[in-house]
Amino acid sequence: MKNMQKRIESVEKYLNRLELDSELKRHYIGKSILVTGGAGAIGSNLIIALSTLVGPTGKVIVLDNLSSIKEKNPWNVAPLPNIMFVKGDVRSDIYLKRVFKENISIVYHLAAFFANQNSVDYPEISAEVDVIGQIKLLEYSRLAKVERFIYASSGCAIYGSYGKMPLKEDFISMHLTTPYQINKMTGEMYNNFYFHNYELQIVNCRFFNSYGPGEVPGQYRNVIPNFLYWALQGKSLPLTGTGEETRDFTYVLDLVQGLVKSGYYKEAIGENFNLASGKEVSIKSMINMVNEAAGNKAQILLKPRRKWDTKPRLLASIEKANRLIHYEPLVNFEEGFRETLVWFKDNWEIIEKLADFTPGMSSAVG
Ligand SMILES: NC(=O)c1ccc[n+]([C@@H]2O[C@H](COP(=O)([O-])OP(=O)(O)OC[C@H]3O[C@@H](n4cnc5c(N)ncnc54)[C@H](O)[C@@H]3O)[C@@H](O)[C@H]2O)c1
Repeated sequence: MKNMQKRIESVEKYLNRLELDSELKRHYIGKSILVTGGAGAIGSNLIIALSTLVGPTGKVIVLDNLSSIKEKNPWNVAPLPNIMFVKGDVRSDIYLKRVFKENISIVYHLAAFFANQNSVDYPEISAEVDVIGQIKLLEYSRLAKVERFIYASSGCAIYGSYGKMPLKEDFISMHLTTPYQINKMTGEMYNNFYFHNYELQIVNCRFFNSYGPGEVPGQYRNVIPNFLYWALQGKSLPLTGTGEETRDFTYVLDLVQGLVKSGYYKEAIGENFNLASGKEVSIKSMINMVNEAAGNKAQILLKPRRKWDTKPRLLASIEKANRLIHYEPLVNFEEGFRETLVWFKDNWEIIEKLADFTPGMSSAVG
């Protein structure tokens, strides 16, 4: 609880740093907002920001089946009085009916079968959750006449491996390497259909490699939490490429900024845009930073490249998001990494309990 209080304060501090438009603040007050996947790494940060913005007369409803973690309690959901947690599946009418009773005006759809390797291992569940789950949510949203439907899309799913850097929204790839990427791309296409056919006010936000407080390491999780977890235990970090590969690591609260602004600016409607840091960090320099911060002296372990992991570089253009919704990342990699490390140390007990690696796990540079 003490640690969650610290997290709530850090989200509030970030919101203050943003100096949000007063019209935007008024726009959110008193609204009922649904966040699917609100117990997850990104969603658990978003719901704190939304809870502040909607205020005591509003409500944030979290729909999450907690499938991402071993724990059956929503430990990652801040216990704030205007946050309501519903444990349920986005594919189930029982839970969808329940949450749509709450007079929802904005939907943030973040629930997903995360992520690439998981979808390679379980392609059918991945499609059921990501595609069928999303169509159901779109149907409920259209029937409830929600004013906006904001979707967590993915840069790696839209641009494939061969786009010109920095990746701009006018390029898409048909050469995707995992079911997860195909599903995320499909998700955007369904959103576009609901926009054109029913005028559902959709927004496609393309995230790039999120990291930050709230993400517990695990077999299918991202590279930063996994590497930090191993480094803090003095273990060797696995390198599946040359180390020269780059990623556009984006601090989770910068993504939250993009999502909050996507729910307000009219220019976002019917659009797709990148939410990223707009900076490249090489895997090698990230590994050095992790090992140094953890005081880890163990040698790097060279591992075979995963077949689907074909992206030598990832760097997003954030010009469109800046133009449409005034998106401006505030947290550079050094600062974001420090915050992540502090959160890791503060929450080590629960991280150790929940970190989910089965024998024969694959590493997670993705
Ligand atoms: N983390 C990243 O780097 C990244 C990058 C690009 C896109 N995204 C997208 O952003 C969204 C959030 O990512 P995240 O990192 O917070 O992932 P996450 O796995 O931490 O969160 C997703 C949440 O969805 C829940 N969930 C999964 N299946 C569900 C179902 N059938 N019904 C209800 N809830 C379900 C999980 O329990 C989890 O809490 C996802 O849609 C993801 O595809 C993430």
